[in-house]
Amino acid sequence: MSVLITGGTGWIGRRLLPHLTDPIVVSRNAASAKQRTGLPADQIIECEIGSELLPSPRLTNVSAVVNLVGESIAEGRWTADKKKRLRESRIQTTQNLVHSLLQGDILPETCVSASATGYYGERGDDVLVESDPAGEDFLSQICLDWEKATQPLVDAGVRVCYLRIGIVLGKGGGAMKTMLPPFRWGAGGRLGSGKQWMSWVHIDDLVQMILFLLNQSTCTGPFNATSPNPVRNSQFTKAMGVALGRPTFMFVPQTALRIAIGEFANFLFASQRVLPSAFENAGFTFQFPEIESALAEIVAT
Ligand SMILES: NC(=O)c1ccc[n+]([C@@H]2O[C@H](COP(=O)([O-])OP(=O)(O)OC[C@H]3O[C@@H](n4cnc5c(N)ncnc54)[C@H](OP(=O)(O)O)[C@@H]3O)[C@@H](O)[C@H]2O)c1
Repeated sequence: MSVLITGGTGWIGRRLLPHLTDPIVVSRNAASAKQRTGLPADQIIECEIGSELLPSPRLTNVSAVVNLVGESIAEGRWTADKKKRLRESRIQTTQNLVHSLLQGDILPETCVSASATGYYGERGDDVLVESDPAGEDFLSQICLDWEKATQPLVDAGVRVCYLRIGIVLGKGGGAMKTMLPPFRWGAGGRLGSGKQWMSWVHIDDLVQMILFLLNQSTCTGPFNATSPNPVRNSQFTKAMGVALGRPTFMFVPQTALRIAIGEFANFLFASQRVLPSAFENAGFTFQFPEIESALAEIVAT
């Protein structure tokens, strides 16, 4: 039996693949997926999942699904067109994935579907756990609808877990790809007042969280995929400076960043103090619970 992964060619997906036996990756481009994942052609399904359904015969041996698809929120300015893609590449793709699975003869037992801590919106110093309500901004509404898109699987008896992923820190991708260079040059600094909370997770812990949810048959519903120790942006900045041995005197005003990169700047300044309550209650153990050790590992090479 196999695990089917949408978005398996992405940064997180590629880190997950080596931990799975016979994974099947769904991609819009099979040739590029083969190159990026190193998987043989028979473990790749080429499909424009945003506009078409997956071929049923390829789903008969699928026991679990990991849904990691979605256009990057960090790359490119948030034009009306980009915002449409951000939304559709998560919701429409998830709806099509769900319909494809429901059309098959055998349903998977489990589905772990990505969402994000953006679910909660801008929340100042509030401590947020899974039972807290969604925010009302653009990303909150995407996350809410993204999670709702899997409801037909829940209704059909599939065990569905929503992974509300925080800022993923790791080598070679995610937030560090943009943040590391200025910090390495000594041009890194806090964003605005630096008081906003950052809910982060080390990529190795995130991969273990996905595996944990696949294997724990009692886990269901939302799970905050964040470290147990969110930090203020100023603490994160200081920890980056220490890890790299570089000064962090600079600071970036919100208005300047908004002019430079547009609406995405609001996301960078949003404060979310999220705790991984459900993972802790389920007995998950973190390899990188503290920002200092997480950053030290990431910048080590
Ligand atoms: N990285 C983070 O810090 C973070 C934080 C919170 C939530 N998440 C969520 O976790 C998931 C995986 O993140 P990631 O960093 O691994 O993402 P990624 O590297 O950007 O990869 C996502 C994959 O989604 C597919 N994709 C991209 N744009 C698409 C579009 N317009 N329509 C259909 N498919 C599209 C691509 O696969 P193909 O090109 O092969 O089709 C791509 O490899 C995403 O849903 C993301 O929103 C990530």
